[in-house]
Amino acid sequence: MEKRGEGTLAIIMLALIQGFLSTGAVEVRPSMNPAVVGASVTLSLSPSTALHSGSWTVGGSLILTWTGAQQAVFPSHTGRATVDIQTGALTLTSVTVADSGLYVVQSVKPQLQAGASLSVYVLISNVTLKANPTDLMEFKSSAVVTCSVSSGSSLSFLWLNSSSEVTGSDRVQITDGNSTLTIVNVTRYDQGPFRCLVINPLSNSTSAPVNFTINYGPDNMALTVNGQNTTSFFVGSNLTLLCSAQSGPEARLQWAFRGETLNTTGPLLELLSVSEKQSGSYSCLASNHRTNVNRNITTNIMVAKSPLSGSEQRRVHVGLLSLLLLVGVLSSLSGKL
Ligand SMILES: *[C@@H]1O[C@H](CO)[C@@H](O)[C@H](O)[C@H]1NC(C)=O
Ligand SMILES: *[C@@H]1O[C@H](CO)[C@@H](O)[C@H](O)[C@H]1NC(C)=O
Ligand SMILES: *[C@@H]1O[C@H](CO)[C@@H](O)[C@H](O)[C@H]1NC(C)=O
Ligand SMILES: *[C@@H]1O[C@H](CO)[C@@H](O)[C@H](O)[C@H]1NC(C)=O
Ligand SMILES: *[C@@H]1O[C@H](CO)[C@@H](O)[C@H](O)[C@H]1NC(C)=O
Ligand SMILES: *[C@@H]1O[C@H](CO)[C@@H](O)[C@H](O)[C@H]1NC(C)=O
Ligand SMILES: *[C@@H]1O[C@H](CO)[C@@H](O)[C@H](O)[C@H]1NC(C)=O
Ligand SMILES: *[C@@H]1O[C@H](CO)[C@@H](O)[C@H](O)[C@H]1NC(C)=O
Ligand SMILES: *[C@@H]1O[C@H](CO)[C@@H](O)[C@H](O)[C@H]1NC(C)=O
Ligand SMILES: *[C@@H]1O[C@H](CO)[C@@H](O)[C@H](O)[C@H]1NC(C)=O
Repeated sequence: MEKRGEGTLAIIMLALIQGFLSTGAVEVRPSMNPAVVGASVTLSLSPSTALHSGSWTVGGSLILTWTGAQQAVFPSHTGRATVDIQTGALTLTSVTVADSGLYVVQSVKPQLQAGASLSVYVLISNVTLKANPTDLMEFKSSAVVTCSVSSGSSLSFLWLNSSSEVTGSDRVQITDGNSTLTIVNVTRYDQGPFRCLVINPLSNSTSAPVNFTINYGPDNMALTVNGQNTTSFFVGSNLTLLCSAQSGPEARLQWAFRGETLNTTGPLLELLSVSEKQSGSYSCLASNHRTNVNRNITTNIMVAKSPLSGSEQRRVHVGLLSLLLLVGVLSSLSGKL
């Protein structure tokens, strides 16, 4: 609040100064603005003007005065402010954030008053993320990530989820001057990587990424036989049953036939040259040892006697017939050309 008051005052003062300076008047130009803490900054007059005597103030407080070759530096600036008596330029060494403000030079002969605002900031360094824990349960855990720096002033924080900016919602809260990100009831899609981008008028820097391990599922199970949803097959067919489940970490999959668990684990169950006896319910059982959730999916497979022993031959004939039809279409097309 105090800072804002000073800022407003500075703007009013600058307006006043500019108000009574005639057009084409002398301006104050900082050698660096914004300036980095520790730098030396020179506030020069432009165009260069020889001043026999004068004074520099910051925020209305005297820094130094001079007459001819005589300089008097006030205690607040002892050892770190000098004026070039030829040009009236003020040099500040090792500036600090507190040196930010409105600098005004005044002289009687020639009658002159000019000013400029100087801003001093600390460079941002070592942007670090803290997240604890990073191993989370979907729909149950909340993620909290805090972003901090080893140094930096006037900081703005921005959060990135992969490469897109994170925006607040009822589920996503950004607090503590935007330096803390909270995700309530995480979902499997919240694994990140999350990064924090810190910006000030002088610099910007990005943190290393943080990833979350979200434990979820198994759910959204699917079961196909030979890549299809059909469940009727002929005796002697080879069947490949494929089971899938969404799960983090990956679910353990086990197969069951007519409710009896089989020795087969993993996503594939292969049945070679099936017989009618192998008709029945096939289940895939999925379990996740982190979420302690078990789910299953069942399909009923019918194995029937092949109606015609010559079915293979018929398929070949159908294939030949369509090939002949295609040749016919092609030749009629080429006839038109
Ligand atoms: C960066 O910040 C972390 C956490 O505040 C600290 O542990 C580490 O020493 C810092 N590293 C440097 C190079 O300043
Ligand atoms: C988080 O989950 C809890 C329990 O399931 C629920 O009561 C709460 O409303 C959820 N919060 C949000 C923001 O979805
Ligand atoms: C936090 O971020 C929002 C959105 O980018 C911005 O409008 C707001 O000014 C920021 N707050 C602070 C304290 O930096
Ligand atoms: C992160 O990005 C993913 C993918 O775009 C999105 O589904 C998820 O909701 C995002 N999470 C947060 C906290 O922004
Ligand atoms: C960060 O700083 C680089 C120069 O170091 C600049 O090119 C870039 O635009 C800045 N990014 C932001 C978001 O300010
Ligand atoms: C975070 O996840 C990304 C991809 O999602 C990966 O490239 C990166 O190596 C992971 N980082 C860590 C620290 O695990
Ligand atoms: C099988 O059926 C399910 C839903 O009934 C559907 O989502 C899936 O795409 C089908 N798969 C094939 C290969 O037809
Ligand atoms: C079934 O698989 C076996 C061995 O992989 C193979 O020899 C046989 O020809 C296959 N049968 C059919 C009908 O595809
Ligand atoms: C299941 O596997 C175990 C060991 O791998 C074996 O001893 C057992 O005989 C198998 N059972 C069947 C029904 O194949
Ligand atoms: C399969 O899931 C149902 C609920 O969806 C459950 O009643 C049944 O016991 C499960 N079967 C096995 C073998 O785990």
